[in-house]
Amino acid sequence: MLDPACGGGAFLTPVARRIMNSLPGCSPAILLENIGNRLRGYEIDPFAAWLSQVSLDAVVLPLSRNGGRKLPVVIAVCDSLQRALPHERFDLVIGNPPYGRVRLDQAERARFKRSLYGHANLYGLFTDLALRHAKPDGVVAYVTPTSFLAGHYFKNLRALLASEAPPATIDFVAVRKGVFDDALQETLLATYRCGAPRGLATVHEVTPIDELTISIRDSGSISLPSDPSQPWLLPRTAIEASLVARLAHMENRLADWGYGVSTGPLVWNRFKDQLVYSSGSGRRPLIWAEAVTADGQFIFRAEKKNHAPYFELRHGDGWLTVNTPCVLLQRTTAKEQARRLIAACLPADFLKAHGGSVVIENHLNMIKPIVANPVISPDVLAAFLNSAAADRVFRCVSGSVAVSAYELETLPLPAPEALDGLRRLVECGGKRECIEAECTRLYTGTAL
Ligand SMILES: C[S@@+](CC[C@H](N)C(=O)[O-])C[C@H]1O[C@@H](n2cnc3c(N)ncnc32)[C@H](O)[C@@H]1O
Repeated sequence: MLDPACGGGAFLTPVARRIMNSLPGCSPAILLENIGNRLRGYEIDPFAAWLSQVSLDAVVLPLSRNGGRKLPVVIAVCDSLQRALPHERFDLVIGNPPYGRVRLDQAERARFKRSLYGHANLYGLFTDLALRHAKPDGVVAYVTPTSFLAGHYFKNLRALLASEAPPATIDFVAVRKGVFDDALQETLLATYRCGAPRGLATVHEVTPIDELTISIRDSGSISLPSDPSQPWLLPRTAIEASLVARLAHMENRLADWGYGVSTGPLVWNRFKDQLVYSSGSGRRPLIWAEAVTADGQFIFRAEKKNHAPYFELRHGDGWLTVNTPCVLLQRTTAKEQARRLIAACLPADFLKAHGGSVVIENHLNMIKPIVANPVISPDVLAAFLNSAAADRVFRCVSGSVAVSAYELETLPLPAPEALDGLRRLVECGGKRECIEAECTRLYTGTAL
């Protein structure tokens, strides 16, 4: 067994204890040799590496005392990503690898080319590394963030996992606070079996109850999408299992409704001297994320620190402006929020009243028509995206706090020809409950 980011040895020590417990009749010297042959840990931090070795020494102390010898050194201080592949492969590669974006040099990029797409993340590299260190029929068991399940930058990693080591189990850790230090990362425990055919992966929801108890609930089984580089839709809770099964058969995407997604072009701190506090010739309303309210309204406002309500256009700034009604949708929402999808329509009359165009800041997505006559208007699309039904679906897709253009464009949607009822409801000012019921019906076939 290898832990390539072994820290203080939290995963290695229980294995040493289990080997000892499973061979009670074995001579201490042989058992020590056995454990020494079976376990390996790599760690970049010398103190953490020392701690791992000391923790293992402590676990096997009764053996060392009786056998008259110490456990061999099984921890190497090294950068796992730079280390040459060993001759021996492992039955189990286990760990809680580091995560975070990293810049790679050319040689590193070339080494991990097969699993990279755009920005590299440490845990993606460690996942690729695990596959290289596991035996052809070995198991990889990792604790990682959930962002690889749907993120654009992980599409090649998803394809690699599907072809070389499909997931056997994926367990979501339901509570974030108090379980892991970093409150913003959603976490999962997954096992991947190298060389296995692509089959069903079982999904669980793991909820820590107190220090000694966890509850584990079955959320069903899923198969990966036919193109496994696409987001993997997974039920986070048992309730979502049947929904995910239906979504697997929904082939329509936003493009089939006549829309495409891009991010608001203005990164405000690169244009500080063009942010202004009054309207005027050559100035356009600057639309910040706060203009889209939690209940799906558009309110022109700039109330947060450093937010100015207008933008002064200069020569060549045309690319920053938007002149068509579109749906604005917040780009960052956490799973604790009542809604992950928070959208509002940028109204045509607002554009008209402000010289025909506005500037959209980068914390908003813009969902714009890509055809002359999309199947529904931006108003109807905003109402759909603000529904609990669409929100529930997005939560089965998204693995991070980002609401990315990629994830929105890959969201499974009902068929365009089924949208007449919703269109009529929104256009005649139908009640919120009726719109909710219609959106639920569109996804489940039954109104709640
Ligand atoms: C999330 S911690 C793992 C904690 C570990 N499971 C334990 O029991 O303490 C990730 C570990 O990876 C180590 N690490 C980070 N980059 C590394 C690299 N390139 N090679 C080896 N270890 C690395 C860090 O020093 C840290 O100890």
